[in-house]
Amino acid sequence: MRNEVLLTSSEEETEELGERLSRRLVGGELVTLHGGLGAGKTVVVRGMARGLGVPCGVCSPTYTLVNEYPGGRLPLYHVDLYRLGGAAEVEGLGLDECLESGVVAVEWPEVGAPFWGGYRPRLEVRIEVVDETKRRITVEERR
Ligand SMILES: Nc1ncnc2c1ncn2[C@@H]1O[C@H](COP(=O)(O)OP(=O)(O)O)[C@@H](O)[C@H]1O
Ligand SMILES: [Mg+2]
Repeated sequence: MRNEVLLTSSEEETEELGERLSRRLVGGELVTLHGGLGAGKTVVVRGMARGLGVPCGVCSPTYTLVNEYPGGRLPLYHVDLYRLGGAAEVEGLGLDECLESGVVAVEWPEVGAPFWGGYRPRLEVRIEVVDETKRRITVEERR
């Protein structure tokens, strides 16, 4: 396990962090993103998509719970549990299949907490808002 803490001063720097993190991924990893609304979780995922070479301009979120971004080095599945009520619903997302070959990035993993019992996130990304443009980001890598 390895801990990394850094301070970013712009959205672009945070996106670059996501891009850098994506280089370590080989498929099958769960990445959890912790932080309040507007912290920058989606920005990190966008950077991961960019790093994986996902050919989408924006990867704009849809109203589905699992957004699939195919076409990159690995398929990226982006989940935002904010609107989910609990573990029962999380179980219906089909994340097992996603994890067979792809990378699953989850915003608001706390919402599905009981569900994650059998899973170990490979990367835990925690984002704290320091001020309007600064974020303190902790990345915990587990084996
Ligand atoms: N250093 C920074 N890193 C990431 N986002 C930042 C930063 N500074 C300002 N922002 C802004 O914060 C917002 C983060 O949005 P978003 O990634 O959608 O948050 P979340 O997914 O955590 O709710 C964006 O509007 C972005 O421009
Ligand atoms: Mg978000």
